[in-house]
Amino acid sequence: MGGNPAMRAGLALVVVVVAVVVGDVGAALPRFAEAPEYRNGEGCPAAVAGAGVCDPGLVHIAMTLDAHYLRGSMAAIYSLLKHASCPESIFFHFLAAADGGEGGGGGVGELRTAVAASFPSLRFEIYPFRADAVTGLISASVRAALEAPLNYARNYLADLLPKCVPRAIYLDSDVLAVDDVRRLWETRLPAAAVVAAPEYCHANFSRYFTENFWSDPQLGDRVFAGRRRAPCYFNTGVMVIDLRRWRVGNYRRRIEVWMELQKEKRIYELGSLPPFLLVFAGEVEAVDHRWNQHGLGGDNVLGSCRPLHKGPVSLMHWSGKGKPWDRLDAGKPCPLDHTWKSYDLYIAEAITAATTSQLPPSAVQDSEGEGRHTAAAHKGKMENRGSKFLFICGTIQIDSLGFGLENPHKVEAEDRDLSTD
Ligand SMILES: *[C@@H]1O[C@H](CO)[C@@H](O)[C@H](O)[C@H]1NC(C)=O
Repeated sequence: MGGNPAMRAGLALVVVVVAVVVGDVGAALPRFAEAPEYRNGEGCPAAVAGAGVCDPGLVHIAMTLDAHYLRGSMAAIYSLLKHASCPESIFFHFLAAADGGEGGGGGVGELRTAVAASFPSLRFEIYPFRADAVTGLISASVRAALEAPLNYARNYLADLLPKCVPRAIYLDSDVLAVDDVRRLWETRLPAAAVVAAPEYCHANFSRYFTENFWSDPQLGDRVFAGRRRAPCYFNTGVMVIDLRRWRVGNYRRRIEVWMELQKEKRIYELGSLPPFLLVFAGEVEAVDHRWNQHGLGGDNVLGSCRPLHKGPVSLMHWSGKGKPWDRLDAGKPCPLDHTWKSYDLYIAEAITAATTSQLPPSAVQDSEGEGRHTAAAHKGKMENRGSKFLFICGTIQIDSLGFGLENPHKVEAEDRDLSTD
């Protein structure tokens, strides 16, 4: 026994197969290149020794982090650092599912390792978010993805972040900053405001709630009576939140009360957005629209591409169904997805001559940049490819790029759709 060469070869094969399977399980997260170095420029606030996260000179960014959207988050972080005048003064607060989410992998430890590998000097903390904090409050909505507990994590920022953090900018994972986020950070919040965000008053606000809601004598218009201004739709993917006022006013509880009512009577169709509108519409401080150029994910129904809105752009948001990384991988990018790609740190599996020949023509064409990307990553550092784009000056005037024409009908339709993100 054991002397048979064929048997030994068979055993060796089994060992190799087992190793490959085990290796796959361990490699749940995709691989990312290390981002280029970044340094504070002139006139940045000096770090207060020993202050850590409580340093008053910091800009605090809060985002969720999970395996599924990690590629988006990595690009978003990179874009924020790249365009910041004081990148070393940005502190990132990441909320991640405490149980690592579905599908295994992507646990807090793995996410921490992945972020630190791409951004070795990034100042960040990851807060485990317990899904059971919200699962009992979530009702079925139009799109299953919107019911993911992590979508509701933004409601819990004030509970999770250290008490010394006075405000935070909450950002979705499908955004790119193309301007210095400190400008958004310095948004003035009048005493009455807890949240600042771009508002969209041309969107038909009544469509975010059901007939049940508007016809109920206790609800409907009564809910918004006495607000600072007329209630308008705003997108919760980009918000400046005063965490101290939030805590004092117990706004997490106010949101939960609406989520509980939703379980009794169906007052809205969407996920995490409507409770925010119920609490904050008409109360938010308006921010310039340049800070949420949303809807770039495309039309939810048609899957079509969308241009930027008219006006300057400081932050691009791929809200909606389509995500740039999916379309790029499929070889069918929208025009603006190429901008996103210049911030993509993802290392695709090496494209060999053999696999390239099997790809459809469009994918081969598109893999040109990807191949360069992979080669650069092998050198241990990604070249700074963003500089060949137009963002050096901070913001871009979109009219000059030819995307400016706006169709009012289209905008209206979009605002209905984008609310599903
Ligand atoms: C807004 O939407 C509601 C409900 O769908 C509709 O009844 C109303 O006519 C719309 N208003 C405008 C100005 O389009």
